[in-house]
Amino acid sequence: MAIVVIRQDDRIDLWKNALQNAHNGIKVYSFLEDHPKEDITMAVIWKHPKGSLAKYPNLQCIASAGAGVDYIFEDDTRPKNIPITRIVDPYLASDMSEHVLAVILAHLKNLNSYKLDQMANVWVPKDYLRIKDVTVGILGLGELGALTARDLVSFNFNVQGWSRSKKEIEGVKTFYGPQGQQDFLSATDILVCLLPLTPATKGILNKELLSQLPKNAFVINVARGGHLVDEDLIALLDSDHLSGACLDVYHTEPLPATHPFWNHRKVHMTPHYASVSDTNSVIPQIIENYNRLGSAEKLQNLVDSDKGY
Ligand code: GLV
Repeated sequence: MAIVVIRQDDRIDLWKNALQNAHNGIKVYSFLEDHPKEDITMAVIWKHPKGSLAKYPNLQCIASAGAGVDYIFEDDTRPKNIPITRIVDPYLASDMSEHVLAVILAHLKNLNSYKLDQMANVWVPKDYLRIKDVTVGILGLGELGALTARDLVSFNFNVQGWSRSKKEIEGVKTFYGPQGQQDFLSATDILVCLLPLTPATKGILNKELLSQLPKNAFVINVARGGHLVDEDLIALLDSDHLSGACLDVYHTEPLPATHPFWNHRKVHMTPHYASVSDTNSVIPQIIENYNRLGSAEKLQNLVDSDKGY
């Protein structure tokens, strides 16, 4: 039994060492080093190179190092008959909720446009909004969406939420299914996308959906770049239907230098960092699943392959 860590960013050694230090005697390899492929029973991965999972004949579990698993389903060469797990972690949820709160407050108080004014030596006080003036609508009420909704309620925001199937959250007006979407959108001033990316939600933030928001609505996408049709967002910002957007995720990351978002005055960007797995916090659940694999017990935080999340 051994673990391979597969990711293409600069956090590969951090993950390898953290896993190794968490469990005496565990064998952990980086996919970049020489390693015995037949010993590998668990792959701990984040945006792996397509095809890399097919090299392990005895793989028993694919463990996503993040909450999202969309990138795993995009790899047709992955072994399809083994469990996929994802991270469910209080920090991943609270970091997201804090990020969304910060973005909403910055929007209400015009902080981004004051920064632009400052760079241009401009002094123009602007009207601001109060928490009571706006309704925040959260698309997706999974772990992250539900906590974000509850936290916004505790800040006295009017909060509503939409999900595929019916959900109830205290203090949140909830809508579900295609029939609930129109009422949800028409009453949403600030839309927060926290949906999983699946074939059903790909491109959901398109002209048709975004046009149903009231004029001057603000859009926050902290889910996946694939949810958004970039040119539809730009068209609605340019026609002044939408007042702005704050994006953390993109179709291609890092966002290519020529992409129009970079210089759009109504688009505020962060580099996919709203909520990132903290190794100290999430490694114990991966080790727990590694131990469960060893004793053939049911794994935690299993992904439903039919739903894709
Ligand atoms: C981050 O985007 C994650 O899915 O954990």
